[in-house]
Amino acid sequence: MIKQESIENLKSIIDIVDVIGNYVQLKKQGSNFVALCPFHSEKTPSFVVSPTKQIYHCFGCGASGDAIKFIMEIEKLSYPEAIEKLATMYNFQLEYTKNNSFIHLDILEKVNSFYISNLFKNKKAYEYLKQRGLFDSTIEKFQLGYAPSSSEQFKFFKNANLNKKDLIELGVLNESGEYPRLIERITFPIFSQSGKIIAFGGRTISNHPAKYINFTNTKIFNKSKTFYGFNFAREHILRSKKIIITEGYMDVIMLHQAGIQNAVATLGTALTKEHLPILNKLNPKVIISYDSDNAGINAALKASKLLYKEYFDGGVVLFDEGEDPADAVKKGKNIEEIFKNEIRFDEFIIEYTMKKYDLKNPSSKKALIDELKSYINTLPDILKDDFAIKASQYLQINPNILKTKTTHIQNLNLNKKIDIAEASIIKTLYENPNLMDEIIEYLTPDMFNTHYEELDAVYKEDFDNPKLLEIVLRDDIKVLDTQTLKKQIRKLLIPYYQKKMLEIKYNKNIPNEEKMHYLKEINLKLLRLKKGELVESDIPI
Ligand code: UTP
Ligand code: MN
Repeated sequence: MIKQESIENLKSIIDIVDVIGNYVQLKKQGSNFVALCPFHSEKTPSFVVSPTKQIYHCFGCGASGDAIKFIMEIEKLSYPEAIEKLATMYNFQLEYTKNNSFIHLDILEKVNSFYISNLFKNKKAYEYLKQRGLFDSTIEKFQLGYAPSSSEQFKFFKNANLNKKDLIELGVLNESGEYPRLIERITFPIFSQSGKIIAFGGRTISNHPAKYINFTNTKIFNKSKTFYGFNFAREHILRSKKIIITEGYMDVIMLHQAGIQNAVATLGTALTKEHLPILNKLNPKVIISYDSDNAGINAALKASKLLYKEYFDGGVVLFDEGEDPADAVKKGKNIEEIFKNEIRFDEFIIEYTMKKYDLKNPSSKKALIDELKSYINTLPDILKDDFAIKASQYLQINPNILKTKTTHIQNLNLNKKIDIAEASIIKTLYENPNLMDEIIEYLTPDMFNTHYEELDAVYKEDFDNPKLLEIVLRDDIKVLDTQTLKKQIRKLLIPYYQKKMLEIKYNKNIPNEEKMHYLKEINLKLLRLKKGELVESDIPI
């Protein structure tokens, strides 16, 4: 493997303009360079390279990234191969680590055996698992254990001759090596696809505020590329051509115990693009089965949007309010039956996006249509129409309202209406992230009319978001000083709160007393805004 430090050194000497200049003819334009995009065919240049940000972005096809990504895409190379290519271009000597992961894995196996032996020594831990409804055979299959006190663990590490540096590198000890990452917790070994232990998760049995702790990413463990339980589920996924993705360790374990062995879980993270290569290899139908609380539904919505766009067949299964798959198994529900009632991805996206809006309110309906349209814009051409037609049926509107032209994507993107006031706020926050903590109290993405997605991306520090990059890279959008930024925000907030007042005034669902209270609050806000102050965005409706 290439040493990370060596990659960083290489990155610090490469210049994206040089690198891309080797492949396409760049022309200076303002502070950037432009060219004909090498990733799609075009006659007028919409490919921009920014020397200050060291990134490229195509306004036509949306391709974007840094120099390494450019080499990966243009040469069809993997990440390490692209690094090697760049090193050759710059005559740079890369340094490699010795491949000693062999010893590493052995260490985690030893730690696991120790944790397992402690489960049976600790009555409270074992009783906890029994009370959660686990059979002994399940505990054995998933190799669950118990991490005892810090001192007991250090005693074991010493006796077993385990080296502190290795234990830190593998995540067993924290970064400084002072204490084990899991203390007095049930342990869940996390396996690689081939069944080797690569990390652990741990659950408190004494109401510690952090219910679960997972290992941080290490050399051999990357959370966002790993599914818990995949090693056990793999053959069942192949056979059934179906994978069930849940939120938690216990969901996987209980589903397997109930005979549903194609279940896996993401590891405390959302389903991301990085998970897709694993899915692509088996190409199964995907069933998302998250908790049916708000967080779970939002995560399911995000996952559905991602999977639908990437052509996965499948849908979402929601359990009863406040219940997750593990609870349902424990209650003895008919799980097979529940899994038969999935809501297909496109339907789920439409239904649950609609639920966020009040369809009786025209401006709210418009916001819904805008949100659906902006999702449709991200879809590949062959899905655009399908989705637009389906959504228009739900909304009972003419499908043309949702359809976007497919043949002139380029023009569409370039001519897209840009709201300069909103865009300059976004660019200012992107350039000065330290302002974000303060501004987020006053300004939430739903207050924007046009660029709410981009504002959301800045707040989430999703700095690779192509739409965000389009704003950031435009020379005609200026970065504001703090004073002007606040003035600009006030100018947007006044009409926002005025509109809100009307919405509340005519909303039949809010009891009168409550209504008066909100109207008074907003009125005060408007007065303060007009006086030149900013106001907290704390109106709950
Ligand atoms: P849940 O709270 O739904 O987990 O979080 P669960 O498995 O249903 O919990 P119990 O044991 O039945 O009460 C889902 C997943 O999110 C991660 C874990 O991976 C968990 O399995 N998580 C949750 C954390 O990483 N930390 C936490 O504090 C909580
Ligand atoms: Mn849960």
